[in-house]
Amino acid sequence: MSNDALNAAWSSPSNIAIIKYWGKHGDQLPDNPSLSITLTQARTMTKVVARKIEKGQEPSLQISFEDKDNPAFAQRIQSYLNRISEFLPFLREYDLQVESKNTFPHSAGIASSASAMSALALCLQEIQSKLNNEVLDMQKVSILSRLGSGSACRSIYGPVALWGGSNQMPGSADEYAIPLHDIHPVFETLCDTILIVDDEKKAVSSSEGHALMKHHPFGSARIQQANAHLEALLPAMKNGDMTTFGEIAELEALALHALMMTSSPSYVLMKAGTLSIIEHVRAFRAETKTPVYFTLDAGPNVHLLYPEESKLKVKEFIYSTLMSFCVNGMMIEDVAGSGPVKEDGERSERG
Ligand code: DP6
Repeated sequence: MSNDALNAAWSSPSNIAIIKYWGKHGDQLPDNPSLSITLTQARTMTKVVARKIEKGQEPSLQISFEDKDNPAFAQRIQSYLNRISEFLPFLREYDLQVESKNTFPHSAGIASSASAMSALALCLQEIQSKLNNEVLDMQKVSILSRLGSGSACRSIYGPVALWGGSNQMPGSADEYAIPLHDIHPVFETLCDTILIVDDEKKAVSSSEGHALMKHHPFGSARIQQANAHLEALLPAMKNGDMTTFGEIAELEALALHALMMTSSPSYVLMKAGTLSIIEHVRAFRAETKTPVYFTLDAGPNVHLLYPEESKLKVKEFIYSTLMSFCVNGMMIEDVAGSGPVKEDGERSERG
């Protein structure tokens, strides 16, 4: 490696929103505040090598995803780099080599933009910080992640992150996420089993879905609803009130999909298996009083949320009743986590 080469390597997790970000404006700014649990297992590992170029030359980008060329991913990253070079001037003077891999199977139908864009933002900001002789500033990383994919800005902090300015939380902002400190221990080890109901590419992407919120008949009611949910969720998460937490999680998931079904054009991302799982979860909860709740992101797969102490009971339920709705029995067992990790194993600062 030449003396002018700099490198950085990070792994960054995905996250599951309890209050959903749905609708945006301006430069990737959210229409409403959102709150998510940062995951542990579902993550992206990214390595960036930057090599200084001769004066007057155009910087080049070499990129591999899962050890293969991926032109669609490369195009997305190239336009992202063009957009963020005003914050990271080194990008105009260095060739970049980017390698990115997910821990979860590509076929799982899991959106990887939160983990992928936050891992890349961490690497790029670290290189710029080294050149400036500055310490890595996680707020800047969260801003850069947001510009790559809105939900990515929350993956920088664990176990719970809040994005979007709200008078409920001092220090919150539309430009970056903040860690939520005042939470009950039950949420620090919250389990999330992701049931893979369908592994096909989604018919309508999240970005297209956000755009349909612009002229949505329920747009302003949605913003009010998300704010009201945040107001109720914050004390519930402080006090360990799993019932309120779970009720809000389920209502948010169904509201998100109701917004899709009432967009123009309308669309449905849930599958028959998604609805069957929802019915079974509600029946099992009513019958056994086990605190297990569902949420969905913008797709058909179901996230089951439950406290660590209910793990055994929920696992039995999954294997006896829910697994038959999963493609090839596919699921990912995840748990709340503390956020990104430098490849050498050093943990990022929490908060
Ligand atoms: C339903 O962050 O994927 O998962 O900003 O266009 O990249 P872009 O969208 P993205 O949207 C995520 C939507 C969601 C809810 C959430 O994670 O808050």
